[in-house]
Amino acid sequence: MSRPRMCTRLASLLALAMLTATAAAAAETTLTVVDADGASHRFPVESLLGRPDVETVTVAGDPAYGDASPAYRAIPLTGLLAGLPVRGADILEATALDGFVAQLPAGKALSADPAGARAWLAIEDPAKPWPNLPGKKVSAGPYYLVWSNPKRSGIGPEAWPYQAVTLKLTASVASRFPAIVVAETLAADDPARRGQAVFVDNCFACHRMNGAGEASIGPDLNLPMNPTEYFQPEVLPLFIRDPKTVRDWGEQKMPGFGPDVLGDRDLDAVIAYLAHMAGRR
Ligand code: HEC
Repeated sequence: MSRPRMCTRLASLLALAMLTATAAAAAETTLTVVDADGASHRFPVESLLGRPDVETVTVAGDPAYGDASPAYRAIPLTGLLAGLPVRGADILEATALDGFVAQLPAGKALSADPAGARAWLAIEDPAKPWPNLPGKKVSAGPYYLVWSNPKRSGIGPEAWPYQAVTLKLTASVASRFPAIVVAETLAADDPARRGQAVFVDNCFACHRMNGAGEASIGPDLNLPMNPTEYFQPEVLPLFIRDPKTVRDWGEQKMPGFGPDVLGDRDLDAVIAYLAHMAGRR
């Protein structure tokens, strides 16, 4: 008697698994936007591709595809968010399928100033998928946040989230994650203060600090130990500049931060920040 029952159970489990898989595939091509009032808006990929403000956009300095950057079908972010409550939001948080969570300054992401950088939501057409990312078995789709003229507003490579599926307008990083903030008593010109901002712009999309943050790609940089406690002082900057000079293996995910992305002053500042945070667990 137990066998047929097992079979029925197995069959319904299988059916459930197939349903869940179909729902997951659909969910992955739907963009979710959370406005400044906390309301969610869902945009299926077909509805985005059919909008009148879709343009073909080519970008320079594409960190995901490099010189092989395709021409993207894209909507200006200002257009996508037009009509939604955005007031009071400091940050546009972009969450990717792989656990990368970028905290982008809302002022820059929603700027229409022709003298500055412009943010675009690039949309992968399921009928004409983008190539796989170099060295990966996936493309940058379903959505990739790209910038035209990034240098004009100091937009670095970590501000280009690919495989992004959720965009959320939210409050400042310091107010949401007080555990990453330097001591109030630090002098205004202390490099660790500047380092906190460098950390948020370049590292926080992959690393948490004191357990705070949303990212789940790399390790927490203070718990249980802080890298300044176990890296030789001369090795840590080498590692940040080019992790492969210290350790090298196929699945390594941390990108190097060359001087073009992170100047020497910013590199020193982010290390000063890490050292400071070792005393703030
Ligand atoms: C795209 C994701 C990503 C970004 C951005 C990133 N890291 Fe990493 N980092 C990782 C991952 C993943 C590891 C674990 C090793 C690996 O797979 O490369 C790592 C490892 C490290 C380590 C070594 C930890 C250990 O114990 O081995 C340090 C130190 C570090 N990161 C610092 C930084 C700093 C500082 C920044 C910003 C300037 C940064 N990372 C930006 C993903 C990232």
